[in-house]
Amino acid sequence: MKIIGTGSAHPKCAVTNEMLEKFLDTSDEWITERTGIKERCVISSEKLEDLAVRAANQALENAGMTAADIDFIICSNVVNEYVTPALSCIIQGKLGATCPTVDINAACAGFVFAMDIAEDKLKCKKAKNILIVCAEEPSRMVSWQNRSTCVLFGDGAGAAVVTEGDELKAIRLTTSSLTEVLYYQRALEPTPYIDKEENFEPLVMKGREVFKHAVTNSCRDIRKLLNETGLNANDIKYYVLHQANRRIIDSIRNFLGVDEEKVPHNVERYGNISSAALPALLDELNRGGKLQKGDKLVFSAFGAGFTTAACVIEWAK
Ligand code: COA
Repeated sequence: MKIIGTGSAHPKCAVTNEMLEKFLDTSDEWITERTGIKERCVISSEKLEDLAVRAANQALENAGMTAADIDFIICSNVVNEYVTPALSCIIQGKLGATCPTVDINAACAGFVFAMDIAEDKLKCKKAKNILIVCAEEPSRMVSWQNRSTCVLFGDGAGAAVVTEGDELKAIRLTTSSLTEVLYYQRALEPTPYIDKEENFEPLVMKGREVFKHAVTNSCRDIRKLLNETGLNANDIKYYVLHQANRRIIDSIRNFLGVDEEKVPHNVERYGNISSAALPALLDELNRGGKLQKGDKLVFSAFGAGFTTAACVIEWAK
């Protein structure tokens, strides 16, 4: 496969650390020092599907295509207002596309999981042009009374159009069931027959454990991919890493021994926007004129599950 178009969209409501200080026992100093985040955009009047459609339309335009050219849509999403239908069905209708669609949930690693599925579809000739849309509203999973979680997340969407090509050089996905470090359980409808104990609570996170898993696993994935492709760390133009925490990004960079300019970040402006982080950052690089044909890029992300996913691509545009 190759990526031929990117797009992104963020909600209009930017919440600064100072705004959080007004109702939480926190400070700009603490959040900046521990996470690097200065502000995040959160959904107010928008619908998540509308952000997704904005990002998708940008990606289509960037690819020189219309919705009619797309023959499969993969939407990566953890939570949205609908349990059913899938968000991808809503996005399909709003885009005016007619192809089949599917939602996936690989948490924050969803973009690379979607790339892997797209690659398989392209390889077996079941599709020619695939739209990947990552649309996420983690601000609706956290308790806004919990300073340990709500300061970390933002909402947003990122999209990419992929087509046949030889530019995906290597990819690696992992899942290791480790559900207690990061989870969110929401209430289902009661029935007259339920007599089991149920536990519904906003996002629960063991921050330090997640931090360690994130750094260890991301470094492991990247090293394996570099080894597999015969590339060394400095052959990579950019490491597009999951934007969860600036300290996680810096730790991965230090362990890999690569220069700061190779590891772009926007976590300071958007916080953690889950699986939308990678395509949104890629879109910034693309639109900022930072990418040239032939550049080697590493993507690496991790999330609840625990899932991890990484790949090496060559920029094709
Ligand atoms: N403002 C002020 N204090 C805060 C705070 C906030 N927003 N959030 C937590 N604290 C406090 C804690 O209550 C704790 O206080 P205590 O020592 O009195 O109990 C103290 O700060 C230290 O907490 P700790 O959890 O040890 O901090 P940390 O340095 O590990 O940073 C995280 C916390 C959450 C920022 C960090 O662990 C992290 O980023 N983990 C990964 C999270 C992540 O990426 N999740 C998504 C994965 S996809």
